[in-house]
Amino acid sequence: MPESLPTEKRLMPLLIPKDMPPFPEIAFIGAGRLASGLAMALSVRGIPVLAVASRSTGSARSLAARSPGCRVMEAQQAVDAANLVFVTVPDDAIAGIAAQLHWRAGMAVVHCSGATELDALAPVAAAGARVGGFHPLQTFTDPEAALASLSGCTISVEAEPPLLDTLQQLAAAIGCRSIRLPAGCRARYHASGGYASQFVNVLLREATDIWKTFGISEADAVSALLPLLKGTIASIESAGVAQGMPGPVSRGDVGTVKRHVEGLAEIRNAAGDEALDLYCELARRTIALAVERGSLGADKAEELRKILTQG
Ligand SMILES: NC(=O)c1ccc[n+]([C@@H]2O[C@H](COP(=O)([O-])OP(=O)(O)OC[C@H]3O[C@@H](n4cnc5c(N)ncnc54)[C@H](OP(=O)(O)O)[C@@H]3O)[C@@H](O)[C@H]2O)c1
Repeated sequence: MPESLPTEKRLMPLLIPKDMPPFPEIAFIGAGRLASGLAMALSVRGIPVLAVASRSTGSARSLAARSPGCRVMEAQQAVDAANLVFVTVPDDAIAGIAAQLHWRAGMAVVHCSGATELDALAPVAAAGARVGGFHPLQTFTDPEAALASLSGCTISVEAEPPLLDTLQQLAAAIGCRSIRLPAGCRARYHASGGYASQFVNVLLREATDIWKTFGISEADAVSALLPLLKGTIASIESAGVAQGMPGPVSRGDVGTVKRHVEGLAEIRNAAGDEALDLYCELARRTIALAVERGSLGADKAEELRKILTQG
């Protein structure tokens, strides 16, 4: 697995397959948030982006302005000019683009969707081109922020060699690790990302709803809880998911968990649900991790399960 770059500007050598030129001639179709960040990251690492096409020329021009040498073209022109095309349109538009344009044998076409299987590119494969997936596990908003946040993140790649090698090397060249995704797992792979992403927002909203019941605003609650969240992340980084888990369940503090249950019994969250329901569900899941961590014995685990089982 390629390691992340020690410095932003360092260039990794690209192991380009024999039947491809030294740098793949790259084009983007779709010039939105991901394409703008990725194109800029490639350009900064000295990997030229030859062409861009998008629904509106404004988006395409804006991407081209950040990638020296990149020309705005019609989609078919961009495909004809490139030997590696990134289809970076919204997920639901990928199959349409694949069906609409003419592809050729020997070229490669990849999409960047986490949840879309490669069969969305079936017309491309039928034309004899190689197909792949290149999904950065990162959030892209504006290109400059993407450039900073890409370094050290993971890109999930799916392709057969030699395209696989090219994609792994491109990932390494922009400072990312890569993992290989097997076919057929994308829906659940992408769904799982929510647990390290938007569900953290949901959990923080749940917590701040509780703080509101004793008069503390969401802003103040978030300021107070973020350092705790960062500490948890640091602990996971150093010790792992089970060993790095804090909290009363992991300590086997049955009395504290009992007080939590009593304290939450009367509270409803923003969705109108009882705050206790989610707490109990999560705390029950915590028991297995605490047992794995070796800090919770079978007796206390059973006691906790009883306290946390409603109705
Ligand atoms: N943003 C992220 O954080 C992120 C992270 C990982 C993966 N991805 C994946 O990256 C892909 C793009 O996502 P995004 O967030 O960059 O979307 P986005 O910001 O909405 O950009 C999509 C771009 O595609 C263009 N477009 C839409 N339909 C088109 C068509 N039929 N032909 C040509 N261009 C078309 C849009 O056109 P105009 O602007 O020209 O109107 C826009 O520039 C998706 O597959 C997504 O799952 C995104």
